[in-house]
Amino acid sequence: MADKKRILSGMRPTGPLHLGNLHGALANWIDMQERYDCFFFIADWHALTSSYENTETISDYVKQMMIDWLSAGLSPEKCTLFVQSHIKEHAELFLLLSMITPVPWLERNPTYKDQIVQLASKDLSTFGFLGYPVLQAADIIIYKADGVPVGVDQVPHVEITREIARRFNYLYGDTFPEPQAMLTETAKILGWDRRKMSKSYDNAIYLSDSTEQVMEKVSKMITDPARKRKSDPGNPEICNVFDFHKLYSPQPLVDEINQQCRQAEIGCVACKKKMAKNLIAFLDPIREKRHHYEERPELVAELILAGGSKAREVAQQTMEEVRAAIRI
Ligand code: TRP
Ligand code: SF4
Repeated sequence: MADKKRILSGMRPTGPLHLGNLHGALANWIDMQERYDCFFFIADWHALTSSYENTETISDYVKQMMIDWLSAGLSPEKCTLFVQSHIKEHAELFLLLSMITPVPWLERNPTYKDQIVQLASKDLSTFGFLGYPVLQAADIIIYKADGVPVGVDQVPHVEITREIARRFNYLYGDTFPEPQAMLTETAKILGWDRRKMSKSYDNAIYLSDSTEQVMEKVSKMITDPARKRKSDPGNPEICNVFDFHKLYSPQPLVDEINQQCRQAEIGCVACKKKMAKNLIAFLDPIREKRHHYEERPELVAELILAGGSKAREVAQQTMEEVRAAIRI
């Protein structure tokens, strides 16, 4: 372990994971667990920053997210999987960091300004929402992470984390490494309506969907809009179903569809059926694992506890150093 670089990342438990999440962040994490000392956690306190009025779903989403992670292939033997609110040390470090973080750093955070506009229906004028990146900085540096695999939207938060770590080191002596954001190119997955796949657009295929639900959602998928009849030649390049074929179908079938579509030799209904079959075959093993964990809630609870103990050990060690550095 010692020779591996440490990485850390988190997800807010805002609902079940869909294919967009899987091919985005999660596939990347699964791949990284072989090469890095990985810490992945469910950011339930961060979920409160925007959903403080509706907290009844959070604990269930936490369990579901852990099951999604495990079924998709994150291994508790290879990485440390835990829940943020189980490690109270994050809150202590958040408090200490809040003492040294200038408010203008937070006010000029582009993600903050963006979210205030996008979520205008919610009252986000809270201290906690402004302080979101300070909590995120605590999450990251308490494990002295070298890298933080995130999407572009989170880069400003990692940047603030580096600034806060630097400021801490300047004030109290070298304690924290400055973590790097690790960006990865990921396939952009569209929902059936050709908008970005997202829970809020209600256009997503979930890892937890049944075979019937997947079939129904695939049958609704918008194809080449210019192709009205089967006798019209289609353009796979602008068709979302074809993008899915590229992800889930074997290459010879992809090539075949590419040809047949352009020559109007296959209809969209048949084409979708072939794709759905391969997508379902891809999801089957994930669904099987999901059943396994769903039937064993005590196993999931145990894994969450065990991951928490591993994380806590590291967090407590860091906090001893932090208290000594601050002399408190
Ligand atoms: N803010 C992240 C998101 O919304 C979640 C998160 C919380 C996180 N703490 C983190 C990500 C620490 C990386 C590292 O996606
Ligand atoms: Fe898309 Fe397939 Fe229809 Fe071509 S045949 S437009 S690839 S769904």
